[in-house]
Amino acid sequence: MTIDITPSGQACGATVRGVDLRALDGSTTAAIRSAWLDHKVLAFPDQDLTDDDLEAFTLRFGPFGDDPFFAPIDDHPHIAAIRRTADETSSLFAENWHADWSFQEYPPDGTCLYSKIVPPVGGDTLYTNQQAALDAMPADLRDRIEGLVAIHSARGGYAPDGTYGDDDAAGRSMQIRPSEDAYATQLHPLIRTHPETGAETLYSTIGYIIGIDGMDDDEARPLLGELYGWQIRDEFQYRHRWEPNMLVMWDNRCVLHRATGGYEGHERLLHRTTIGYNADVRAA
Ligand code: SIN
Repeated sequence: MTIDITPSGQACGATVRGVDLRALDGSTTAAIRSAWLDHKVLAFPDQDLTDDDLEAFTLRFGPFGDDPFFAPIDDHPHIAAIRRTADETSSLFAENWHADWSFQEYPPDGTCLYSKIVPPVGGDTLYTNQQAALDAMPADLRDRIEGLVAIHSARGGYAPDGTYGDDDAAGRSMQIRPSEDAYATQLHPLIRTHPETGAETLYSTIGYIIGIDGMDDDEARPLLGELYGWQIRDEFQYRHRWEPNMLVMWDNRCVLHRATGGYEGHERLLHRTTIGYNADVRAA
């Protein structure tokens, strides 16, 4: 099967046509993996996928990730519904830039999102290429972050007093489960080497990053703020516009993403899986 790949023309992202994601053979899967590593975000339009198909596709790229703080949909423990009803007034889910679950010891390599209900306006997902951001970083900023190790935590979002905490549940249609577990912390270097491409890349950002190991907050906060301003510059971004029945997979190891609004009065529903930390590609 020959796949047709059209780069977005932006800082990352490509659209892939000419493939049925329900019927992948080994060589097509390898071609998709290679395109994923090149473009970091792949969109597959016009895919008619059941939840079983979505799970099977995900497992072609790694094990399922561990999704804390979400209740899964019925009968599919690895699928979460990213849902917003037309009249919902709760804060937008995932509106801040992030790399999924970067507070875990072994964060997920990727995420798949499959669109089931797409609003006629708004609801784009934004991505920012963190390999490009590091490549273009001024030497002065790079010198100041070189060798630093970031402290990650889910507390700002998912602790009982976080954004999606105990006071949030009323009116939110997404099934989020805040927990004391969110106070845990985990260390990851600010600059990491991508395990498959070998490229250096920035990893995660302020939000899930709450400090720098061994550095006073008075020093760490402005540095993380300056770094954030660089990470999300327009020239590193890709704006993804959804169509119904579109699957998007992104590489959490080298992109950040965030949701956008602008669809008040319209429903939006996507099903999400995570591609977990894949020991096999690291051993290869
Ligand atoms: C997510 O971060 O999983 C959701 C992104 C979106 O809703 O656009």
